[in-house]
Amino acid sequence: MENLLTTSELTVVEIQQILQDAQNFANGAEWKPNKQSFVANLFFEPSTRTKCSFEVAERKLGLEVIPFETTSSSVVKGETLYDTVRTLESIGVNAVVVRHKEDNYFNELVGKVNIPVINAGDGCGNHPTQSLLDLLTIKQEFNKFAGLKISIIGDIRHSRVARSNADALTRLGAEVVFSGPKEWFDENVLNDANYEDIDTAIETSDVVMLLRIQHERHGENDVEMTKEDYHKQYGLTVDREKRMKKSSIIMHPAPVNRDVEIADELVECERSRIFKQMQNGVYIRMSVLKRSLTTIEGGNLHVNDYKK
Ligand code: CP
Repeated sequence: MENLLTTSELTVVEIQQILQDAQNFANGAEWKPNKQSFVANLFFEPSTRTKCSFEVAERKLGLEVIPFETTSSSVVKGETLYDTVRTLESIGVNAVVVRHKEDNYFNELVGKVNIPVINAGDGCGNHPTQSLLDLLTIKQEFNKFAGLKISIIGDIRHSRVARSNADALTRLGAEVVFSGPKEWFDENVLNDANYEDIDTAIETSDVVMLLRIQHERHGENDVEMTKEDYHKQYGLTVDREKRMKKSSIIMHPAPVNRDVEIADELVECERSRIFKQMQNGVYIRMSVLKRSLTTIEGGNLHVNDYKK
């Protein structure tokens, strides 16, 4: 049974395998489980991309998607996450995809349920499938990670995307630097050695990865600033984009706040891979679902079911 909870639990070889399988799906490969399989998507936080692309991935793999909305489930009557997943397991669901506001919510499930848990984002903690789709996008562009400089810019402390990407990219050999308001940094991922001022980061990176300000996770002590001030001081402005390296690209996990972390006209500019990232999300999620479901069937890859 293969959970996917964090990037750090994956070896570099496993990451490369997931990326290769996702690229195969992008190239038109097909795979279907050899028996009827049910999946439920439990999203306790809002989502557009992750939820919808998991559902597209599930349908492309021929999985039965069990409708589950937290607001009309027995969660509103006080049922715990554990009891919810145990219930789904006992009625025949083969895997769950979970997004939750609590960091490490999955500790409540691991070792206690007998179906794979795929983490679709835990609080400020991890977003492994976002990181994997970002890696696929970078690999398609540069065909390598070693030697690339990647700047992650914005609300680092509250960003599960920053944490997952810093872990995976560093282990794959990329140089990761951070920029943005220092008040929003996390000592666990940032030290002075990997902080750069915004202009240096943008002008010298191969990948400029922007992050949304996660107001919903801010507390009373977090410094706030106006959208205009943020854009001017820490955003990718039209002027800053002109100073980017010739072959460099712009990424953003989205949702994007236009004219805050990135100028409106840059969201779909030639350098932007933002919508490519979303497209790759479907292939990565197909790869991750296949990994979890093949393992549950006895560790065999069922290569006969895998059609080119
Ligand atoms: N990137 C991302 O996780 O987007 P959603 O919150 O819309 O799923």
